[in-house]
Amino acid sequence: MRTGARPFTSRRSRALTRIVGLLAAPAVLALAGCAQAPAPDQAPALAAPAAPADMSWLPQAREISQTVPPRLLAVLQEEIARGGFGGAVEVCRDKAPALARAASEQTGWQIRRVSLRERNPRAIPDAWERAALEDFDRRAAARESAATLERAEVVMEGGQVVRRYIRALPTMELCVNCHGRPERLNPAAAARIRQLYPADRAVGYQVGEIRGAITLKRAVAAAN
Ligand code: HEC
Repeated sequence: MRTGARPFTSRRSRALTRIVGLLAAPAVLALAGCAQAPAPDQAPALAAPAAPADMSWLPQAREISQTVPPRLLAVLQEEIARGGFGGAVEVCRDKAPALARAASEQTGWQIRRVSLRERNPRAIPDAWERAALEDFDRRAAARESAATLERAEVVMEGGQVVRRYIRALPTMELCVNCHGRPERLNPAAAARIRQLYPADRAVGYQVGEIRGAITLKRAVAAAN
């Protein structure tokens, strides 16, 4: 039985949306949702006859999230080879948003990078992203591999049905040159970062910690 075009109007159906989304995803994503599972007294919501959320978009969102960061990394490595870490700072500042913008235009998804300790003030996460990032940090601290952490969900935002996807970006060896502890920072990069980002909070990371995330969102329809 279907309830028609109003699947998102109650808290109960929102909870169902989340569960269905997680069931549609591979095991790793189901793990991502463990902390979000409803209390046992809400369990009957699973059997409720609400329309399941459409999660057919998930492979596309996941693929985009796995395509953009390696592209940026390639540009970064090229620039480091050419001009060292100091010069690469500026490339990161200009190329990272440009690559995200280009991918957004190509795919129709809004794409950006966010962090709980941002360098660029535009990378401050919204509430949904913040909750995911905090969950990722907890799980990375519990020794889950940071590279596999993701979350996908259909949510209501400002009267619209919105598809949201976020994937963790782990700190690798290369990253600590510009995001690491003081003794690991490349001196030329650190000096340039201080000039360009006086309010920088994106240092002090160790390899394996989550530096931030790539996040995608797309509104699909107005709710009625
Ligand atoms: C050459 C220095 C440099 C290296 C190496 C570097 N970054 Fe950055 N990173 C930056 C700069 C500069 C910014 C700010 C970019 C901007 O203004 O949009 C940034 C921003 C980010 C952001 C966006 C959130 C924020 O804090 O503004 C993420 C996520 C990020 N870096 C992850 C990484 C990861 C992961 C690596 C390693 C694979 C890495 N970075 C390597 C310089 C670097």
